[in-house]
Amino acid sequence: MLRRLSPIQPESFEFTPANLEWAQAQMTKYPEGRQQSAIIPVLWRAQEQEGWLSRPAIEYCANLLGMAYMRALEVATFYFMFQLYPVGSIANIQICGTTTCMICGAEDLIRVCREKIAPTPHTLSADGKFSWEEVECLGACTNAPMAQIGKDFYEDLTAEKLAALIDQMSSGAVPVPGPQNGRFSSEALGGPTALAGLQGSGTQYNGSVQRAVDLGETLKRIDGTEVPILTPWLKDRAAQGNHAEASSSASNDGNKG
Ligand code: FES
Repeated sequence: MLRRLSPIQPESFEFTPANLEWAQAQMTKYPEGRQQSAIIPVLWRAQEQEGWLSRPAIEYCANLLGMAYMRALEVATFYFMFQLYPVGSIANIQICGTTTCMICGAEDLIRVCREKIAPTPHTLSADGKFSWEEVECLGACTNAPMAQIGKDFYEDLTAEKLAALIDQMSSGAVPVPGPQNGRFSSEALGGPTALAGLQGSGTQYNGSVQRAVDLGETLKRIDGTEVPILTPWLKDRAAQGNHAEASSSASNDGNKG
């Protein structure tokens, strides 16, 4: 499939201050002169901030990493995870259309998207709030059919449930992700048949859903203020540097003696 940039492009792009700080931290993972190795996470952050990758965003990332625009464009157009067309201001709905989901009703979900959002994928709804696309297996086959919306999975869907989710999101709500049929996670529909005594860690939702609810960023565009920027490798490097310095000065003292 040919992947081209959208004919509709914004004038410019720049990271929010916190996202820029995050990107610059990523660049320190690589040896001096190899900063372009950070192209995928940096492009991904640009997409998390804007929802999609515009030409100015790709060029901004290339400039940040000191690489040719063409090299950054090659990466952005190669990986399907990068959206090259504008996406809905609330969400781009990704319907899994692979075997298990297809057998369990993915085509019904796609019909809902065609009717409620736009007749074709990668097209904005009339109000600009949503777009949709069909994607390959997202690894939640036990809870088929499912969709990724924003950062989280909505599972065990039906056409009616997906339509209701879209309506709730359209009104500004963020429905709880995870199984939409009352299942805790991916146990058998009639309840667990093995390890039945284990009831999770006592949280209301399964691990993924609980994390999504706690973070509350399912549909949020990421501006970098959500979580602290962690750069443990910088601390490790500083500790190694101190250790090397201490060893060298100890050895110099020994030589003097
Ligand atoms: S087939 Fe849909 S998640 Fe695997």
